[in-house]
Amino acid sequence: MARLVLCFLFFVAVAQGRHEKYEGHQLYQISGPAQEIAALEAHIDIISAKPTRSEIAQLQALVRLSPEEKLQWLQYFDEKQMSYTKVADNLAELLRKEDVQIQATRASASAKRSGRTIGWETYYRHQEINDHLDELAAQYPNLVTVINAALSYEGRQIKYVRISTTRFEDMRKPVIVIDAAIHAREWVTPPVALYIIHQLVVKIVDEALTDSLDWVIIPVANPDGYEYSFDEDRLWRKTRSKSHEGADECPGVDGNRNFDHYWGTVANSANPCTIVYEGPTPFSEPETRVIRDVVNQNLNRAAMYISLHSYGNMFLYAWGNNATLPSNGLALHLAGVTMATAIDALALDKANRYIVGNAAQVLYFTTGTSRDWTRAVGVPLTYTMELPGYEYMFEVPPEYIEQIVTETWAGVAAGAHYVRSVYG
Ligand SMILES: *[C@@H]1O[C@H](CO)[C@@H](O)[C@H](O)[C@H]1NC(C)=O
Repeated sequence: MARLVLCFLFFVAVAQGRHEKYEGHQLYQISGPAQEIAALEAHIDIISAKPTRSEIAQLQALVRLSPEEKLQWLQYFDEKQMSYTKVADNLAELLRKEDVQIQATRASASAKRSGRTIGWETYYRHQEINDHLDELAAQYPNLVTVINAALSYEGRQIKYVRISTTRFEDMRKPVIVIDAAIHAREWVTPPVALYIIHQLVVKIVDEALTDSLDWVIIPVANPDGYEYSFDEDRLWRKTRSKSHEGADECPGVDGNRNFDHYWGTVANSANPCTIVYEGPTPFSEPETRVIRDVVNQNLNRAAMYISLHSYGNMFLYAWGNNATLPSNGLALHLAGVTMATAIDALALDKANRYIVGNAAQVLYFTTGTSRDWTRAVGVPLTYTMELPGYEYMFEVPPEYIEQIVTETWAGVAAGAHYVRSVYG
């Protein structure tokens, strides 16, 4: 008992300290022209962005303002005639509430849990997820292979699973590649990846999806950042690498700006201190090289690529570097709408309906994204998928995980059937 109390006190102490950096930080919903909002990325943390309902090329964004910079930014928004409203008074307080919830759900999950199985009632750490993948491979050797793809910058094992009824040897089967948590703070993405594995391997809800397709699933693409977001900074997005100039002050690279597609063409992304830092060179990060390599290895067969992100209820397709469409724009839209429709049929009433569209037109220009790179090297159907955050942003309470994994599976399954019918 004494030990339990000590543990608890320790946890509370850690939790208090951990969120101190966000004490007094406020969240503002701002609206303005898309390119004005995009330009802010170089200076402030844009937590999410979405099109406004009423006007073309106008975005609504949620931004975090520290007490020190707040007045200056509100003045700037006034000057630019951008409207703004405060939506949260103290981010640290929100994060402390999240901690309490997660602690509680982890305790009850571990009481119920047997062995290394994991569930959908809480969030799991990188090592727990890795152990779970190894366990699945041991239990379902005819279907699951775990690949120890590479070590992260800090030396964590990046694993992915290959799911195949034909040991990845049937060259006629299209491959679907899915990654999660390349952005560390987007915690609800690994459960979605794990649930997809579960439905394909454990539940086998639809044999056609493994009979005629092979799958590559990377549940935690950026383990250093993911762990850092648990232990140090809940809003950490980037990797934790320090191989660039200025890394002492501003470590880490945005994994979704580090791909070799129009890399290095926008000034915002060249600054290591922005959340969208593209890195010193394309593919400077071991984490993005894992994705690059597995896509390249399966290039002849890879038919669909989905990068799971949180949040905003969107399927975004190429191009992001300009507002034109790839040659198969119609198919990209059709497959995206097919997935979105399946999800919306199961979505909560309060959730926003999915938006499907060209990334640059729906939001703003981006370069070096995995979505554009995979499309450019020849994967036909590639998406950045933004899962729901409801009113909670990245801090999706654990009780919503089951809803999100269930509805997203429906979308992915619909997308997989589309792939079967067109490329199978
Ligand atoms: C837009 O970018 C794509 C590559 O992402 C390129 O192929 C295309 O030529 C560009 N279009 C224009 C009009 O610049």
